[in-house]
Amino acid sequence: MGGNWKSNGSHKFIKQYKEDVLSILNFESNKCEVVIAPVTLHIESLKLHSRDFAVQVAAQNVSAYPEGAYTGEVTAAQLLDSKVNWAIIGHSERRKLFGETNEVVGNKVKISQDSGLKVIACIGEQLEDREKNKTMDVCINQLEAISKNVSKWDDVVLAYEPVWAIGTGKTASPEQAQEVHHELRKWLHAKISKDVASKLRIIYGGSVNEKNANDLITKEDIDGFLVGGASLKKNFVQIVDSYKNKFI
Ligand code: PGA
Repeated sequence: MGGNWKSNGSHKFIKQYKEDVLSILNFESNKCEVVIAPVTLHIESLKLHSRDFAVQVAAQNVSAYPEGAYTGEVTAAQLLDSKVNWAIIGHSERRKLFGETNEVVGNKVKISQDSGLKVIACIGEQLEDREKNKTMDVCINQLEAISKNVSKWDDVVLAYEPVWAIGTGKTASPEQAQEVHHELRKWLHAKISKDVASKLRIIYGGSVNEKNANDLITKEDIDGFLVGGASLKKNFVQIVDSYKNKFI
């Protein structure tokens, strides 16, 4: 279960979050990893406030370059050096607003894999793609650019996030999400391996909330969620809790 805080939060917010969310997350019964990504500046603070809980902290982005003259960039090695083991890569906001192409996303995956940083790699179609029946073409194209740069699949989580569902309140139906996740696994089976296809965690993101999480999680190929807006609220506890429905 991933929480993507985007450009939200403050030190005060993190303290309150500890009381409202972290301290009541039910890790025992859920047995799922919980990874939260605040802005880079708040990583240390969230690490401090979450140290008594089984929460891991992620970066929302990583440099495509090694250490050097790249103003404003944080490298994969620097994240690991600060004991941050995860980064989100290729989020649609980074693709759309910050011009990240498939090639850039691929480079970020490569440098993360080479350094040992685990990644939540994001893919997803725009509304126009879906309307033109191009959902799988776009998703596979993005997945291909990622997979070319993967050397250790155990360190990868794939997040399917239809762009039209992000921050819009319009969630993909459980059937729509399952259909894409299933096709992604089929592609992985054909192009990578049977083992990777069955083991890779494919999580869904896009307006996940405490109401729709229970149905989405029961779908066979949905292994968890990447949650934006709702991960900032108390309801994130219920979303994480929905994971237990996978085993009922
Ligand atoms: P949302 O965002 O849950 O607010 O739709 C998801 C994401 O961007 O990862």
